[in-house]
Amino acid sequence: MSTLTIDTLGIVGTGAMGRGIAQIAAQAGLTVRLFDTNPQAVAAARQYLQDTLAKLADKGKISSDDAAATLSRVQPCGALEEMADCDMVLEAIVERLEVKRDLVAKLEAIVRPDAVIASNTSSLSITAIAVGAKHPGRVVGYHFFNPVPLMKVVEVIDGLSGDPAVGDALLALSRRMGHTPVRCKDMPGFIVNHAGRGMNIEGLKAAQEGVAGFADIDAIMREQAGFRMGPFELMDLTGLDVSHPVMESIYNQFYQEPRYRPSPITAIRQVGGLLGRKTGAGFYRYVDGQKQLPATAPVPDARPASVWVSRDSERGHAMVVKLLTAMGVTPEGGNAPSADALIVVTPLGLDATTCALQQGLDASRVVAIDTLLPFEATKRRTLMTTPATSAAMRDGAHGLFASDGVPVTVIRDSAGFVAQRIVSCIVNIASDIAQQRIATPSDIDLAVNLGLGYPKGPLALGDAIGPQLVLEVLRNMERLTGDMRYRPSPWLWRRASLGLSLLTEEA
Ligand code: NAI
Repeated sequence: MSTLTIDTLGIVGTGAMGRGIAQIAAQAGLTVRLFDTNPQAVAAARQYLQDTLAKLADKGKISSDDAAATLSRVQPCGALEEMADCDMVLEAIVERLEVKRDLVAKLEAIVRPDAVIASNTSSLSITAIAVGAKHPGRVVGYHFFNPVPLMKVVEVIDGLSGDPAVGDALLALSRRMGHTPVRCKDMPGFIVNHAGRGMNIEGLKAAQEGVAGFADIDAIMREQAGFRMGPFELMDLTGLDVSHPVMESIYNQFYQEPRYRPSPITAIRQVGGLLGRKTGAGFYRYVDGQKQLPATAPVPDARPASVWVSRDSERGHAMVVKLLTAMGVTPEGGNAPSADALIVVTPLGLDATTCALQQGLDASRVVAIDTLLPFEATKRRTLMTTPATSAAMRDGAHGLFASDGVPVTVIRDSAGFVAQRIVSCIVNIASDIAQQRIATPSDIDLAVNLGLGYPKGPLALGDAIGPQLVLEVLRNMERLTGDMRYRPSPWLWRRASLGLSLLTEEA
């Protein structure tokens, strides 16, 4: 590549993505050419940019001179040939391989041999798009997120035949446009759509097992695990017409990797038209755009006669005793519970039933509490019962653990509660992205933090919890369920076993 300075950017396909990219490019001082096979789409994109820039000027975010200058850099085109002098052309057209390849061929006949041809594809292989190109080295993935001006991260994807200098140029361009670039290999889902599997797929698995309802799982992920949204709220926002095919596509592109196995729950709901917010009904119902939450049962006005906390996990025992003490409750001492005591267990990756059996406890009095995350850091607690737990013990435990005003969700028995299993799957999948060298650990964390709005990058999240604890959850889940989806990534088990951070790269 003789010149990699990108000052004139052509955008083909001026729908939701094309116009967003046009905005940030023009605001960064680039000349932007817009083309779409539908001329109305070009006109609509320009009108959208004009309105958006006017709004930004009204709010005082930019001056009206800036708004006018930015708009003057946006040039609608009536023919693809008008892209001839572009330093780079980015396509954001329909997501079909043969249409994108055809566009690459057309563009190669128009633009300079050293002009970059970038694709905003979210699910196609960049290598595949470059097949048949005369100069495949210049074909690169440039994956933005919707809405582009607000989602400040972009994935730069090197296809197998890509010239690394092209990817380097896009890193610089991204920064010029105020975006944070992350770089990754051409693998299904790239970084963000790959890392995002854990939340939705494991949330669906927990729901499918009847562990808890959609709203309960969401509340746990928000208030206990600290995420902005739970899996069902997120799927309602994206729409199942988008999320379900992505789940199927990534699963199949990884040749039925069990970690990505989708759920029939979304297949059936998609067919039934329960797509989410856009249809007014998804996992929640929406009235005037407002999510309708199911009524929650009041906290039972019950307390156990006494409480005994299992010492099977010294860590869990210490955490629960500290919590109870802060609530003014002194748990029983001794190695065995008294005859009427509520029995509290603190499994990591096991279910309450297995704890009762392994520890020789009376299952009708056993209630498990999730201790993966420190109680001080969480705004909700999760309790879990065995199928034999009596209603009196369940309600007593609920009343007790909610007595300081922190909400409690009681779920049915589950290997890994809800938060443990979802968080551990998120950390495990990110670990395996690092293991496959799809991206560096720091780029994985940056991409997920900015692209999915997680409170921390997934590897930093694993570090904050403790890699050994995440490993214990996964190993126990794998053992108990026999499901290979929980097998720990070598990245995770090596680093956890060596006491290293999950962000550690080899020397
Ligand atoms: P869109 O449907 O809003 O816009 C696509 C535009 O491309 C339409 O205006 C259409 O007329 C035009 N078009 C179709 N075929 C064309 C061709 N052969 N030549 C020129 N123009 C053509 O689609 P959207 O959502 O903007 O997506 C575009 C691309 O960006 C797709 O590859 C999609 O996978 C990807 N993407 C979409 C995201 C999203 O959230 N919508 C996020 C990230 C990537």
